[in-house]
Amino acid sequence: MIQPVILSGGSGTRLWPLSREQMPKQFLRLTSSQSLLQQTLARLEGLESLPPILMGHHAHRFLMAEQLRESGYAGLLVLEPEGRNTAPAIACAALIARQTGDDPLLLVLPADHVIGDLNAFHSSVHNAVPLAEAGYLVTFGVVPSYPETGYGYIACGSTLGGGHHIASFIEKPCAERARKMLEAGNTLWNSGMFLLRASSYLEQLEALQPAMLSACEAAVLQSHRDLDFLRLSEEAFLSCSSESIDYAVMEHCEHAAVVPLDAQWSDIGSFDALWATLPTDAAGNVVQGDGVLRDTHRSLVIAEHRLVATLGVEDLVVVETPDSVLVAHRDYAQQVKHLVATLSEAG
Ligand code: GDD
Ligand code: MG
Repeated sequence: MIQPVILSGGSGTRLWPLSREQMPKQFLRLTSSQSLLQQTLARLEGLESLPPILMGHHAHRFLMAEQLRESGYAGLLVLEPEGRNTAPAIACAALIARQTGDDPLLLVLPADHVIGDLNAFHSSVHNAVPLAEAGYLVTFGVVPSYPETGYGYIACGSTLGGGHHIASFIEKPCAERARKMLEAGNTLWNSGMFLLRASSYLEQLEALQPAMLSACEAAVLQSHRDLDFLRLSEEAFLSCSSESIDYAVMEHCEHAAVVPLDAQWSDIGSFDALWATLPTDAAGNVVQGDGVLRDTHRSLVIAEHRLVATLGVEDLVVVETPDSVLVAHRDYAQQVKHLVATLSEAG
């Protein structure tokens, strides 16, 4: 049986001023009337799976609960007292899933991605099942289109079932290494989704990150119910190191595989990616809210509360919110996170 695990604990500032510490990307209704978290829940329809485990930050608990309720799905909300990144979050989910005595395949899904072709996504999951059942940690690989440095890179090895052995996994390479991997070919981006048997992941952690595993075991053992939430033990969980599954496990794991994913996947990592995901008008513009655009091309305009008018501009991002306005060139969209860092220091 498949046990979905939804990672909803990111703090996300890359889409500032829409996303904030208190309102990260996964809770925003960016591409439809459903938030990205709700789209992730809806993505499970048609896959035979158990009710999902949602792993998130306790500061976002009411947002998570409200969006879960609104979407009409059932799920277990597990609260981390503070983020310790994805490796411990997945470990706790695996330990909770094993408490029933079963050993399900965990389908780990980030809560902040968009997938346009659900049939293609489901068929990749089905291709991954036999590999995960054989004990491989399986990831879903996307054909890369440019040397992005914010992703994990997978060098494909020999053919294995519906996918490949992972010859090597390199998380967030520098620009030069990313370029070289693209030139070498046979390389895929890690989509950040995984299918892995709970016990296989825990065995890898035991070998690679034993202290992390012990901390997570204690955090789950000493967890307690609070209303509809399961709270991990604060003391135990905070003693855990903060590391992503990519650095902590995937880079070192020899029993890993990749299946291809061709499903119009995007992690909406920037306003440029959001612009590229949404349908444009004849001039290549995307307008949300009250925008009036004249002689404007290839721009993204989001007007939440006031009228925004543009004249004679190209390739702009304009995002208006009640307390802040961002105006940026689309080519600079990736750098919004650096801007936000300086704003936080100043503020
Ligand atoms: N529960 C929980 N707790 N979730 C978390 C935490 C945490 O402490 N930290 C991050 N997440 C969630 C985020 O909300 C997101 O949904 C997912 O885990 C991945 O975290 P990111 O911080 O967005 O990772 P990334 O984008 O830098 O890199 C990952 O995704 C890329 C594709 O988008 C990696 O897996 C890369 O290899 C991959 O290419
Ligand atoms: Mg991400």
